[in-house]
Amino acid sequence: MTAAGHPGLFITFEGGDGAGKTTQASLLEEWLTDAGHAVVRTREPGGTEVGTLIRDIVLHHRGEVAPRAEALLYAADRAHHIETVVRPALERGDVVIQDRYLDSSIAYQGAGRILGRDEVRDLSLWATAGLLPDLTVLLDLDPTVARQRLDADDKPFDRLEAERETFHVRVREEFLALAAAEPGRFLVLDATLAPAELAATVRERVAGVLG
Ligand code: TYD
Repeated sequence: MTAAGHPGLFITFEGGDGAGKTTQASLLEEWLTDAGHAVVRTREPGGTEVGTLIRDIVLHHRGEVAPRAEALLYAADRAHHIETVVRPALERGDVVIQDRYLDSSIAYQGAGRILGRDEVRDLSLWATAGLLPDLTVLLDLDPTVARQRLDADDKPFDRLEAERETFHVRVREEFLALAAAEPGRFLVLDATLAPAELAATVRERVAGVLG
């Protein structure tokens, strides 16, 4: 049983677009599964059927979405996802590995859209009845380098990726400020390191949390 009051372990991956979260989440999933843990791998937005519909609006709607509406859509996705997928898994004692969670809302909507850190954090905590991760891995990357990685990918940009560089600089700074404020929850890694090296550091920290 963790301090969070459930027998499972809730691990989130955060960082800007193109930082390599998905690769690291997959490598951790593989390692934990091989070690015999029950693992649920999921993401926000879009970890449920309802979430897939919301994801389509927030990422691909062509016209404007008002910043407060955007924040509420992410929060709605999160509320449904936590109640129907994540909490049940944590109550069973599973390890949940999730791409993005409330820190993304604080960074993108709070700092990126300038809605305010505390308001956005409170909205997410209300949506999830106060669930915080046991560990958050922040893959920190300079937005200029991230943009080069995304360009090389050759996929069309979604609504958030298409934001200007100043937006992504604010997002990065907010992630780092969040990590500095909660050093016990965060593991901050330099996302320019080799994927295998990053994965080894993540495993070491997770092994420590698992005891
Ligand atoms: P992500 O699923 O990581 O995108 P992809 O699968 O294309 O790599 O995240 C989608 C986008 O949503 C990303 O730009 C960050 C943004 N986002 C927010 O703005 N607020 C949030 O609360 C979350 C979870 C994501």
